[in-house]
Amino acid sequence: MNTSRIEIIQGDITKQAVDAIVNAANTSLLGGGGVDGAIHRAAGPELLAECRTLHGCRTGEAKITKGYRLPARFVIHTPGPVWHGGGSGEEALLASCYKSCLTLAAENGCKTVDFPSISTGVYHFPLEKASRIAVSTIAAFLKEHPELERVRMVCFDGRTKAFYDRALEELT
Ligand code: APR
Repeated sequence: MNTSRIEIIQGDITKQAVDAIVNAANTSLLGGGGVDGAIHRAAGPELLAECRTLHGCRTGEAKITKGYRLPARFVIHTPGPVWHGGGSGEEALLASCYKSCLTLAAENGCKTVDFPSISTGVYHFPLEKASRIAVSTIAAFLKEHPELERVRMVCFDGRTKAFYDRALEELT
């Protein structure tokens, strides 16, 4: 699988000047902790005001807003699945998060998209599984979408990055 357009970096997703950053949201889309809280803090109150007009989002689906005070043009919000042991379709739902976000990004003319590690914080999705699902879903989508120039995983800590580096190596 060609993975030349996928990159794994360590950093703060709110600082990335890309076309779209993805927010690991909850189904209310009204903000929270973790990366959701960081994105809302950096974007400013207009982000929440626009999110209020969206009336929530189902797990695995995605909705797009402007980026406001963020350096990114758009924020794509997706509620990831909460990990309940793997028997409730969590893996398919996580794959759907990545696919839904990339579909929206492509529809909105985005060429560069940054993702956080969806569901692996408060939602307790195991990192080894989540990282494999993420990079394989992204690689499959990029194969069908040459218009997307680059997708990055922006990992907040070294432990998370190590899992995504390994998952990407396994794919090449
Ligand atoms: N930049 C990049 N990644 C970040 C940042 C940041 N500024 N802040 C946190 N992260 C990372 C976390 O370290 C973790 O690896 O994002 C990953 C996802 O963790 P969470 O933010 O806890 O998201 P998730 O597990 O999907 O849980 C979502 O948490 O914040 C609430 O409202 C949110 O209810 C939702 C739930």
